[in-house]
Amino acid sequence: MDASRANRLTVVGLVAFILAAAAVAYYGRTELDKMQTPAPIDPRDAAQVERGRAVYVNHCASCHGAQLQGQPEWRIRLPNGRMPAPPHDESGHTWHHPDEVLFGITKHGLAPPYAPKGYESDMPAFGNVLPDSDIRAALAFIESQWPPEVVKWRKEMLEQTRRQGK
Ligand code: HEC
Repeated sequence: MDASRANRLTVVGLVAFILAAAAVAYYGRTELDKMQTPAPIDPRDAAQVERGRAVYVNHCASCHGAQLQGQPEWRIRLPNGRMPAPPHDESGHTWHHPDEVLFGITKHGLAPPYAPKGYESDMPAFGNVLPDSDIRAALAFIESQWPPEVVKWRKEMLEQTRRQGK
């Protein structure tokens, strides 16, 4: 075998090796993604909603109210300058936000990008308190309490914002 042919074979071998490695990495990555892709927030999933009811009672109701009614006069700033806990029922603005935002606020609190840097709030960050699945469950429970017309408005509103690329 002459030298140039041997070189070509080496190159072909290398390319094949790189392609195979990339394929393995890609496959491994998508498998990993699948494992990490969480069950969505689904207010029609009875098991998730029941789990969420318990999480809500234990971790959210003290501020947001047993009936999701929020704190009294929730639109008026407290003497310490902070906002009271808003309702999570249809009278509040929880339903104005997409699921990703609700999840982010619950996990990280009202920190950037959900509030300006240094914003002071009584809303705790639950990232170190609850697993993601419990945060999703609590939100599924909250959403399960919204009347059908609110669910419909929300869907239309969020679709419109998405279309406008906001
Ligand atoms: C210690 C009181 C307290 C607890 C407990 C609490 N929150 Fe809050 N939450 C607040 C306050 C206060 C706000 C409003 C913060 C602000 O505007 O500065 C808020 C805001 C929120 C918002 C944003 C609502 C909106 O319309 O912008 C979400 C979502 C939320 N809370 C979810 C939860 C969930 C889910 C739990 C339970 C896992 C929970 N909170 C527990 C006090 C609390």
